[in-house]
Amino acid sequence: EVPADLAGRHVVISAGGTREPLDPVRFLGNRSSGKQGYALARTAAARGARVTLVAANSALAAPGGVDVVPVETAVQLREAVLKAASDADAVVMAAAVADFRPAVYAPGKIKKHGTADPEPVALVRNPDILAELATDRPRAGQIVVGFAAETDDVLANGRAKLARKRCDLLVVNEVGTDKTFGAEENEAVVLGADGSETSVPYGPKEALSDTVWDLVALRFPDPGAG
Ligand code: PMT
Repeated sequence: EVPADLAGRHVVISAGGTREPLDPVRFLGNRSSGKQGYALARTAAARGARVTLVAANSALAAPGGVDVVPVETAVQLREAVLKAASDADAVVMAAAVADFRPAVYAPGKIKKHGTADPEPVALVRNPDILAELATDRPRAGQIVVGFAAETDDVLANGRAKLARKRCDLLVVNEVGTDKTFGAEENEAVVLGADGSETSVPYGPKEALSDTVWDLVALRFPDPGAG
């Protein structure tokens, strides 16, 4: 029996990886499949929450009973998350958001012919959605959770990222070309702004998701309906 401890709560989850277009046919992207974010959505719905899932370029099927908002770019993801977050009890940013986007979008396909040497691609910074949410909470008492995808010095980088982003919880996971991205399983350490550290051993992404919801539920300022 799944506890209905998220009944009466609205949770917003971002999933997948943003795509930053160069022209109508090409983009800068990343290896996120959306599986971790969708697992968070399924487990929250199973625990009674109303769930908004902002999904960037995921091929996964929409989980039952979940409101899915499809987006492509970081700027679109920011807009959709901020809109849904205005009445949310918790926001979990599991999406892999591009830190930079091409400075120029070419309205026609960039041609191979005509240019002797290819031009370098100029990039501009994307908004940091997690830091923005954590700093200006759209709703008082809202719990803000980030993920940290690290390839080296995983825990040290995670601790520094938690301090920089000012979120309540940061789920630190290791990634690589054959690690975590697209996999059914994950392992992580969930860091709390209060100094807590919760290790989740390698297992289904749903198990990590349930631990995240346990830690979120503990931090809600008021008792829930469940
Ligand atoms: O989708 P899967 O294949 O299941 O893979 C899961 C995952 C590896 C994508 C996921 O577990 C994960 O780690 N997601 C976060 C990826 C990421 O962008 O990490 P980051 O360390 O670059 O960013 C830190 C946090 O800031 C993240 O919560 C991210 O959503 C957020 N961010 C990042 C950049 C930006 N411009 N705005 C943001 O809000």
